[in-house]
Amino acid sequence: MQTFDVAVIGAGPAGYIAAIRAAQLGLSVACIDRWKTPKGDYALGGTCLNVGCIPSKALLESSENYERVRHQFRAHGILADGVRLDLKAMLERKDRIVARMTAGIAGLFRKNRVTWLKGHARFLVGGPPWRLQAGDEQIEAMNVVVATGSVARRLPGVEIDNRVICDNEGALAFDSVPQRLGVIGAGVIGLELGSVWRRLGAQVKVLEALPEFLGAADETVAAEAWKIFTGKQGLDIELGVSIAGVERTEQGLSIQYVTQDRSSKVFECDRLIVAIGRVPNTDGLGVENVGLKLDARGFIEVDAQCRTALPGVYAIGDVVRGPMLAHKGEEEGVMVAELIAGQHGHVNYEAIPWVIYTSPEIAWVGKTEQQLRNEGVAYRAGRFPFAYNGRALGREEPDGFVKILADAKTDRILGVHCLGSLASELIAEAVLAVEFGACAEDLARVCHAHPSMAEAMREAALAVDGRSLNG
Ligand code: FAD
Ligand code: NAI
Repeated sequence: MQTFDVAVIGAGPAGYIAAIRAAQLGLSVACIDRWKTPKGDYALGGTCLNVGCIPSKALLESSENYERVRHQFRAHGILADGVRLDLKAMLERKDRIVARMTAGIAGLFRKNRVTWLKGHARFLVGGPPWRLQAGDEQIEAMNVVVATGSVARRLPGVEIDNRVICDNEGALAFDSVPQRLGVIGAGVIGLELGSVWRRLGAQVKVLEALPEFLGAADETVAAEAWKIFTGKQGLDIELGVSIAGVERTEQGLSIQYVTQDRSSKVFECDRLIVAIGRVPNTDGLGVENVGLKLDARGFIEVDAQCRTALPGVYAIGDVVRGPMLAHKGEEEGVMVAELIAGQHGHVNYEAIPWVIYTSPEIAWVGKTEQQLRNEGVAYRAGRFPFAYNGRALGREEPDGFVKILADAKTDRILGVHCLGSLASELIAEAVLAVEFGACAEDLARVCHAHPSMAEAMREAALAVDGRSLNG
């Protein structure tokens, strides 16, 4: 039987990063994953690389290019007639990127001497050493890192076939552009993938249970994004609905729902994406064999350093509390590897950025204005619109703004919110500022290249003190 210092279950961004970091620190590491591609080959990278972050962003980019060439190039004086969509080529490009990235992890495992074990893993006997079933073999490990991720939450009574009624997997691989696309859930996936198919030509209707739009985002960002998505972009979003039923018809699907004012409505569509959140995955993991505790929502219980109550057993990524984000899992992966190696591992959960890759993008770090108000924190806000930024105008991307919230007394940055093109890139500066405990004044004193979108960050920092130079 092979014996390892560390066995990592799951090779998504949380697990594969934990495995690589532990190997870098001189530990013997096995990483076990059961993921199979549609062709039946085992693949590393988990949800993120195979059916999440990477393929969705590839399609976002392609669909944005399609929209730009059809609708936005005209403003630059570029007239493109006869533009056509080759969806098959677009999907193949996405698949090539996924294959390249997942093969890249296999290369990293070889380079770092991580043993990749293929197949399902489960706890057999308590330890340490912990005995695990790993595919066809049994192994032992002194430490186990559980990184088994999450799966799409199901809507009761609605069967996902990933052809007509889809979760994220099917929604990334439609073989034709639906004429009418229904989306249940106006969360991150609903907005990102709903926008992709809208840009490619589908008429999209999004049905959301909550009465408010993007409740986790800053209220001013959510309000402005609502105007842009439902106004100029024509995304049809209905809030506060409750789904009464989904029926297959000869033409496609019929969605019955009850509106906020309690009237019953029916919406007919060709295809449906169900994106109502994700749930932690501990399916078949054998938690009962070793007494690994789950909380009421099915997450593995861990402390602030991702330790479970079992000695040498850690859990990280989507399967534990906190935002279900790839980079949050990666941070936890590094932390637990360093803890196992006897180092000091730490994750600053206050400095984890959020990005929603719509167009314009939404990105933030730290507290929202409504959170600060509810917590009774005195703050000052500075805001700068991209409409006053020369680079944004040159790029024909004038929508949105940067908003910085700083402590009224100390000026320390408490939250940064950005709606705009390239917000996903701009937010990195804000994350660095939060991580280093910077003040708005610190950001305002940093020289930013001109002309650049990033100048809006500096101007928003100046605006905290009421002395924006260009606004
Ligand atoms: P996962 O990536 O889910 O990986 C878990 C792995 O464990 C899988 O490979 C699975 O096969 C394996 N596994 C599970 N159980 C077992 C077992 N018993 N034995 C062996 N193997 C097992 N996040 C972002 O930060 N940015 C984005 O842009 C983004 N976009 C997304 C888009 C979509 C459409 C979706 C669905 C998600 C997106 N996410 C994004 C979220 C991100 O994908 C997850 O937060 C991330 O993948 C979680 O990483 P993880 O390692 O915890 O789990
Ligand atoms: P989500 O939690 O972002 O949104 C789900 C939405 O569905 C919510 O607005 C919720 O109110 C709504 N909903 C729930 N039940 C419903 C019902 N019965 N009827 C109608 N609406 C209902 O979850 P989503 O979009 O599925 O994504 C899952 C997670 O994946 C995200 O929370 C995020 O952590 C991660 N993700 C991250 C991305 C990024 O970082 N850019 C991109 C995509 C996913």
